Amino acid sequence: MSTASSIELSQRVQSIQPSATIAMATKAKELKATGAKVYDFSLGEPDFTTPDHICAAATQAMKEGKTHYTPAAGTVELRAAISEDYQKTHGISYAPSQVVVSNGAKHSLHNVLATLCNPGDEVIIPAPYWVSYAALVELTGATPVILETKQEENFLLKPETLEAAINERTKVLMLCSPSNPTGSMYDEAALKGLAEVVLKHSLLVITDEIYEKLVYEGRKFVSFPTVDPQLVDRTIVVNGVSKAYAMTGWRIGWALAPEAIAKGMSKLQSQQTSGPSSIAQAASVAALTSSQDCVEEMLEQFAKRRSYVQGRIANIPRLTNTDMDGAFYAFINISSYFGKSFGGTQVDDSETFCLQLLEQQQVATVMGSAFGAEGYVRISYATSMDILEAGFDRLEAFLKSAQ
Ligand SMILES: Cc1ncc(COP(=O)(O)O)c(C=O)c1O
Repeated sequence: MSTASSIELSQRVQSIQPSATIAMATKAKELKATGAKVYDFSLGEPDFTTPDHICAAATQAMKEGKTHYTPAAGTVELRAAISEDYQKTHGISYAPSQVVVSNGAKHSLHNVLATLCNPGDEVIIPAPYWVSYAALVELTGATPVILETKQEENFLLKPETLEAAINERTKVLMLCSPSNPTGSMYDEAALKGLAEVVLKHSLLVITDEIYEKLVYEGRKFVSFPTVDPQLVDRTIVVNGVSKAYAMTGWRIGWALAPEAIAKGMSKLQSQQTSGPSSIAQAASVAALTSSQDCVEEMLEQFAKRRSYVQGRIANIPRLTNTDMDGAFYAFINISSYFGKSFGGTQVDDSETFCLQLLEQQQVATVMGSAFGAEGYVRISYATSMDILEAGFDRLEAFLKSAQ
């Protein structure tokens, strides 16, 4: 009989780290529980509640008895709504059988990777990347290949950098646009450049477009497969309701994929989780098919906060960042403060910076190292103006205290 202390966890689980954004948010919550006021810029979720008409659709679904298992790949209604939404917005028609609905976009990413990757395969991930990408690839036994991008190039992957990293083991390229953590977005020309390399080498592409509805100041979002018709057979588009509709807790995400991949994902999901919550799926149909005014209203609030954040960063000496085309993050270069001492602690890396900022000024951020980019911190501006104002005052005071 094994005792708790002698239980050995699998090497897969031992090899991955817990999500750093969730870890920082947990630290902030622990501090809050002690009675401290915390200025939390760590979590990537809208601070708005889910719009009423979406909640009403969930209530209605329960009243109508839609409380049973759904098909493993999601209800026919939701898959049709997803496919219609994509067709209306981007002009490509996916059959409902090419849509697989999962328990959040994170689960969709896991299912796509688990459906495609074998040990020994390489998956290219441009850095800075969303915290979970590398871990999700590692869980399949494949190898993440991290490609650095530059702040002065808006953290966008260049076709020549991609080309140079490809070998016979390369299977998948992962893209995220608009990006968590940088807010950068690929325009059509940039995507065309990458598409040429992808098609030349017959790569598969997972494009995470979960922030597509959150773009600012007239910028135009372009979905990857739309830049060349040949990409439709090589691309898996991942999206979900979490960010655009303030539905992070409902756990609905999806993938639009070539038929064979969708079938594989659906088979995997049938053995793994079955279909996601029937009630959350009904609510997601309402989100996609009713008026999009709620998205516009939230976007307006995010846009105000984005301008405020951009102004504050520009006015703090030696901080820099990029344009923030979309999503709700600022990825701030803090490296010019390395080597300085804050309240007696020398700061030489982004993790120490974030921990000291939390301890000394109760401002929670996430270290760039968690996104594969040392020298930066990510702040999420999906929080109220009051918190942003007070939090930036505190960040400024912290930086002024540098010795
Ligand atoms: C880039 C990106 N992809 C996927 C997700 C996961 O979203 P979901 O809540 O649908 O699992 C997130 C959430 O933070 C994200 O930032």
